[in-house]
Amino acid sequence: MSDYILSIDQGTTSSRAIIFDKAGSIVSTGQLEHEQIFPQAGWVEHDPREIWDNVREVIGQALSKANITRHDIQAVGITNQRETAVVWDKTTGVPVYNAIVWQDTRTQPIVDRLAAEGGVERFKKKVGLPLATYFSGTKIVWILENVPGAREKAEAGDLLFGTTDSWVLWNLTGGVDGGVHATDVTNASRTLFMDLETLKWDDEILAIFDVPRSMMPEIRSSSEVYGTISENSLLREVPVAGILGDQQAATFGQAAFDQGEAKNTYGTGNFLIFNTGTEIVHSKNGLLTTLGYQLGTDAPHYALEGSIAVTGSLVQWMRDNLGMISSAPEIETLANTVEDNGGAYFVPAFSGLFAPYWRADARGALVGLTRFVNRGHIARAALEATAFQTREVIDAVNADSGVPLTEIKVDGGMIANNTLMQFQADILGVPVVRPVVAETTALGAAYAAGLAVGFWSGLDELRANWQEDSRWEPKMDAEERDRQLRNWKKAVTKTFGWVD
Ligand code: G3P
Repeated sequence: MSDYILSIDQGTTSSRAIIFDKAGSIVSTGQLEHEQIFPQAGWVEHDPREIWDNVREVIGQALSKANITRHDIQAVGITNQRETAVVWDKTTGVPVYNAIVWQDTRTQPIVDRLAAEGGVERFKKKVGLPLATYFSGTKIVWILENVPGAREKAEAGDLLFGTTDSWVLWNLTGGVDGGVHATDVTNASRTLFMDLETLKWDDEILAIFDVPRSMMPEIRSSSEVYGTISENSLLREVPVAGILGDQQAATFGQAAFDQGEAKNTYGTGNFLIFNTGTEIVHSKNGLLTTLGYQLGTDAPHYALEGSIAVTGSLVQWMRDNLGMISSAPEIETLANTVEDNGGAYFVPAFSGLFAPYWRADARGALVGLTRFVNRGHIARAALEATAFQTREVIDAVNADSGVPLTEIKVDGGMIANNTLMQFQADILGVPVVRPVVAETTALGAAYAAGLAVGFWSGLDELRANWQEDSRWEPKMDAEERDRQLRNWKKAVTKTFGWVD
């Protein structure tokens, strides 16, 4: 029996390989960022070949840092940015177009066309999602309609679609030489095409979108052996045994396995996932219904999700587009040059607004400005935007479940920011709790892979690995919290109606 599990985290800004031991502790990490391509306003792309090259390279980095070989790795798990769509030619292995990223809004006309009959909630009962540019289904349609020759090739059965888990799995397991074309239920639940009850592609919806079924990957559970890694790899013959979309992986890595448990991840966006057990719950408050995880042939677990498009990426935008800071962590130093937001509120509706509003017509707004407001206040308003948006999705979860969350488990890059975490606890009015292993996304995929090959015995063993690192208690008085929330909600209304 080997000693480790390697997890590949193919995220929005970078790809990482992290090696974990049995205690769920990190042994080594490899990481490379990839280019963010913005061809026009609202468009966001990645180069799938760069992503695949980076994945191979980070695996090498992680192995060499730990000074181990493939013989020490019992299985590989994959986790990924979820709705980002890749379409490639299965005969050449070459993508027909760049990956269209989940944040991309170019498919709004396709959404409008599909919603003309039955509205945006047309398929919601079956797939758990409203029609929105966010999900991968409309991105496939765009590629078929806009890339010369793509429709004909797809009809001939030569094109494959995958979210980046499928792209990485297919390449790892041999690519043109028999690569496995599969995805897991959590990623499939972000396409708009999977029936939540049967866990199969819905032929009627595929026909309405005019997407050939031959393009679609096989839907498998989140924890089983999908295939083994091919000959020409550092990890040859190691099984790939776990796949979870990154937000579901973080939930799994936080050991939130049971109904009523939740986590909030602070990445480029924020994603709150609330486990509803084996029950499919439809939100009345703007949340998505999604798959939580499925272990082999066990019953699937479902979840409600509050997706927020822009949180950490607002900080990146202030660094890259405004040059206000030279590195992301500097935002905290700048925010701490002032006492409060000075009356400024920043609503980063760069991709419209996701949960709980789902307003495609929204665009960003910075309001409440006076001559008094300086760079520090704007930095603070940017950080506070993450906390306010989170408060709104937690209000929605509490309203849907009827049982308010009494604390919130957090993970992701931005939780290193103490100022934000304190403000988050203040604006929620409940404690915010950080685990020792904050890399819960990669850990969750490692757990899924390790369970499938018997590296871990079961969920109880994983639960015992979870340990609290720190906790922020709310300090703000209720009156001030209410005042801030009122202002925030007023600011949100200023973002509506900017796109016809
Ligand atoms: O739904 C999008 C999400 O999966 C992306 O997550 O962490 O790569 O920003 P992240």
